[in-house]
Amino acid sequence: MSASSAPAGPPGPSRPARARGTQATTGPEVVLEAAGLRRAFGDLTAVDGVDVRIAPGEAYGLLGPNGAGKTTTISMLCGLLEPDDGAVRVAGHDLAREPAAAKSAIGYVPQEIALYPDLTARENLAFFGRLYGLRGRALAGRIDAVLDIIGLAPRADDRVGTYSGGMKRRVNIGAGLLHEPRLVVLDEPTVGVDPQSRHAILESVAALSAEGTAILYTSHYMEEVERLCDRVGIIDHGRMIAEGTRRELLAELGEADRLDLVVDGDAGDVAEACRGIAGVVDAAAADREVTLLVRHGRARLAEVVATVASAGATLTSVELVEPDLEAVFLALTGRALRDDG
Ligand SMILES: Nc1ncnc2c1ncn2[C@@H]1O[C@H](COP(=O)(O)OP(=O)(O)OP(=O)(O)O)[C@@H](O)[C@H]1O
Ligand SMILES: [Mg+2]
Repeated sequence: MSASSAPAGPPGPSRPARARGTQATTGPEVVLEAAGLRRAFGDLTAVDGVDVRIAPGEAYGLLGPNGAGKTTTISMLCGLLEPDDGAVRVAGHDLAREPAAAKSAIGYVPQEIALYPDLTARENLAFFGRLYGLRGRALAGRIDAVLDIIGLAPRADDRVGTYSGGMKRRVNIGAGLLHEPRLVVLDEPTVGVDPQSRHAILESVAALSAEGTAILYTSHYMEEVERLCDRVGIIDHGRMIAEGTRRELLAELGEADRLDLVVDGDAGDVAEACRGIAGVVDAAAADREVTLLVRHGRARLAEVVATVASAGATLTSVELVEPDLEAVFLALTGRALRDDG
């Protein structure tokens, strides 16, 4: 394999750390700039005009339910899928015109694990490092640095086949970091991962961001995105329906409180009945749970309880909870983020 066909890693320019919460703006401070991305599969428009900008050191969360268009969006951003329309610039390079330069600035971490189980973590990383054109001491140095970032230095010389699923996922992430990309793109990196590895993954991503790496993190776990990301884009049916800091997104809710109900009976009927209560902004049902957005929720509790009964259901529990991004999604779409429908 020739080094020129591999995405050669940049020499590793020192990057100034930026304060968290800094917003992406125009100009050279933008690592990723995508405009008007669109992609259809047959009759289905999977991504329908998405714009994304990410600054150095910014952790950007792309949050959306199953099938929202997250993977399709990042596949286009990373040059793995041709967009029908739109443009992508990475580190100042147009992805269509200078694909090698643009791609060398990206560390893409796919959801599928692609490692050699009979090799150790260090050997796996060496394999991927050579693909990026790294050799000798530079390669060894980057492998050590990456093992530290993913927290696997003590197990580096064990065969990957002996690792837990979460540890394999961490090696997979490490493989995307070897060439010191300015932008790291992670597609739902914690799905199906044990809590310890999940914690380690979130810590690694936070550390990368603190060092100045731009992060694009996709998830349908609202808590992860709230914890990790400076700015969040909420995507639904291929469109970015809201974008901003957590605080900005919550402000869209106005004064509404969130009430979580668990019912015995038809949750859909209960949600429908609750929509008729004054002050109820939105209601969604999933399994036995009903989520309500209600202005002055506490004052409406008695009426909510009565409405559940009138809808032929029994109230098992009711909880007034702090508004979160889940509530923002409900307010915007009338559906729960984790609805499978
Ligand atoms: N190669 C493909 N051919 C046909 N349809 C596709 C293809 N890839 C994605 N889709 C469809 O495009 C839509 C968006 O899919 P995408 O994988 O981008 O969603 P997602 O937000 O990543 O979802 P998930 O959370 O389930 O990973 C879905 O309706 C999906 O079925
Ligand atoms: Mg996906």
